[in-house]
Amino acid sequence: MSADRPAVSLRPFEEDDASAVHRWFNNPAAIASLMEQREGFSLEEAEGWARRAMDNSGEDRKFAIVVEGYEEPVGFTALYGLFRQTAPELGALIGDDVRGKGVGRRAEALTIAKAFDEYGAHRVYGRIPARNEVAKKTVAGLGWKHEGTMRAHLARKQGPPDDCEIWGVLPDEFRAAAADLLE
Ligand SMILES: CC(C)(COP(=O)(O)OP(=O)(O)OC[C@H]1O[C@@H](n2cnc3c(N)ncnc32)[C@H](O)[C@@H]1OP(=O)(O)O)[C@@H](O)C(=O)NCCC(=O)NCCS
Repeated sequence: MSADRPAVSLRPFEEDDASAVHRWFNNPAAIASLMEQREGFSLEEAEGWARRAMDNSGEDRKFAIVVEGYEEPVGFTALYGLFRQTAPELGALIGDDVRGKGVGRRAEALTIAKAFDEYGAHRVYGRIPARNEVAKKTVAGLGWKHEGTMRAHLARKQGPPDDCEIWGVLPDEFRAAAADLLE
C-alpha cells in the first residue's frame, strides 16, 4: 500500500468489538453529522449493536473498518436492504479520530464493490444530511450523483428541520471513478 494511501480493510464484526462501537457512538466529533441523533449510547447498547452486526441472516450487512497500525476497528460501513428489487443503502461512520485521511473513501469503495460484486446490487444509494459536506464529497469522488433533496426531512431539537439529500451510483459510474482505489 502506498504511503499516501492508508491500508484499509473490512472484516466481519466480533463480540469483542463492543468497546470500539461504544467509543465511536460516544465521540461527539464523529456523530455530530449523522442523520439521526441519539440521546446516549451505553456499553450495553453497544454490546447489542455488535451482536446484531454479526447476524447475517437478514437484509443488512455491517463491516468493521480495520486500518493498519490500529489495534481496534476505527469505524464501520453498512449495506442496508440487500437482496430486494429496491437498491441497498450505504452507511458509514469513522468513529475514531482518523477522519480526513482517506480511510472513509477507501472503506466506502470496498463496501460498494461488495454490494455490486458479492450481493448483486444494481445500484447503491444514500441519504445524506445536506449540511454534511464531507460525506457528500466522499461519495462524489466515488462516482455518485446528487439525485434530489428531501426538504426539511430531518427533525432537529435545536432548530428547524434540515434538508436531506439523495445520492446514488450505478455500477459503471462507480467502476470508472473508483478504479484506482480498488487496485
Ligand atoms: C463521512 C466519512 C465517512 C468520510 O470519511 P473520511 O475518512 O473522513 O474522508 P476521506 O479522508 O476519505 O475524504 C473524503 C473527502 O472528504 C474531504 N474531507 C474529509 N474531511 C474533510 C474536512 N474536515 N473538511 C473538508 N473536506 C474534508 C476530503 O478532502 C475528500 O474529498 P476530496 O478527495 O474530494 O478532496 C467520515 O468523515 C465520517 O464518518 N463522518 C462522520 C459520520 C458521517 O457523517 N457519516 C456519513 C453519514 S451520511
